[in-house]
Amino acid sequence: MRKYNVAVVGVGAVGCAMLRCLKQRNFPINKLSVFARSPRDIKVDLDTYHVEAISSENFEDIDIALFAGTEGEKGASALYARKFIEKGAVVVDNGSDFRLKEDVPLIIPEVNKDKISAHKGLIANPNCTTIQAVVALGGIYKNFGLEKVILTSLQATSGAGKEAEVSLWEETKEIVDKNKGVNYDQLDKRIDSGPIVFSHQIAFNVIPQIGSLQEENYTTEEWKVVREAHKIFGDSSIKITATCVRVPVFTSHSEAIYFRTQKKVTLSSLEEILKATPGVKYSPNHFPLPLDTEGKDEVFVGRLRKDPYEENSFWLWCVCDNLRKGAALNAVQIIENLIPHP
Ligand SMILES: NC(=O)c1ccc[n+]([C@@H]2O[C@H](COP(=O)([O-])OP(=O)(O)OC[C@H]3O[C@@H](n4cnc5c(N)ncnc54)[C@H](OP(=O)(O)O)[C@@H]3O)[C@@H](O)[C@H]2O)c1
Repeated sequence: MRKYNVAVVGVGAVGCAMLRCLKQRNFPINKLSVFARSPRDIKVDLDTYHVEAISSENFEDIDIALFAGTEGEKGASALYARKFIEKGAVVVDNGSDFRLKEDVPLIIPEVNKDKISAHKGLIANPNCTTIQAVVALGGIYKNFGLEKVILTSLQATSGAGKEAEVSLWEETKEIVDKNKGVNYDQLDKRIDSGPIVFSHQIAFNVIPQIGSLQEENYTTEEWKVVREAHKIFGDSSIKITATCVRVPVFTSHSEAIYFRTQKKVTLSSLEEILKATPGVKYSPNHFPLPLDTEGKDEVFVGRLRKDPYEENSFWLWCVCDNLRKGAALNAVQIIENLIPHP
């Protein structure tokens, strides 16, 4: 079996999850190169990886590059993705810089892997919030169509990177430490130094804004869900609207999703579809929780129920590890689909 020279760019929350997924899934690697802004050795589980400082000179002979750097004009993919491609690599990018470009396939293998082969060197991984919603709704869309989707996400701090994940811990510790010995009704629930990463304190709080405010007062994160889901389904007629909320959870995003199908459907036929949907673990009698799904591969779905007033309209609850299926695992599944299967 052929083995590949693989690069991982960025070793934050997603990059480390990628290194873990590549190892756990036994991706056939000949040489692994790991890049970030600064050189050092890092530990992921029991393995030590040497991180090289990225520069235009050190990406010869790379077959596949998984990008998990920050977004925007100073981010890794804006600066280096094209250079990797010019040297012959296929790039899978986790950020939002290229997701909506017409010549860049936006892929969730369970839903649209047939689009992978159209790539011109660059393939985009969708946003974590989009991935779990589209996987959860994938079988329902295929069988019954979707007229409307209303989604509320409760997003973990690790969705904003490693530093954001740590900030939940630091803020929580500050509040716990300063209230030692204090009676409950005299607790001081605010941090003194101001929020560490988010726009507001995240410990013991929720923040109903992820990203910046855009058209119609929706945020960048909310528009990502709409536009990326339209592109992946290849159907912009689905009326999708979202509210994205940051919550004090370390890992795994939760989503309450209301949807109306185009075709007439019963609750029991939806249950059958959910049980058969690739990538979904449906539990009729158990609701998934972020703490239980961390480190797992599936999109966990529960609490399926009818809208008592509207035909063909339902709610479901879904939870998924944002760093795994929401990012790293999806990218690794994409490259598994690029290579011949043994
Ligand atoms: N977190 C999630 O749940 C999630 C889900 C889906 C998609 N994403 C996307 O995945 C990407 C990575 O997110 P993350 O959460 O892992 O971020 P993160 O924890 O902040 O880590 C960012 C990493 O990128 C590296 N980096 C930044 N600019 C770079 C540059 N110009 N050249 C080389 N390396 C650079 C940093 O290097 P240093 O360590 O040297 O500073 C760091 O290792 C982002 O585009 C994000 O939007 C994240």
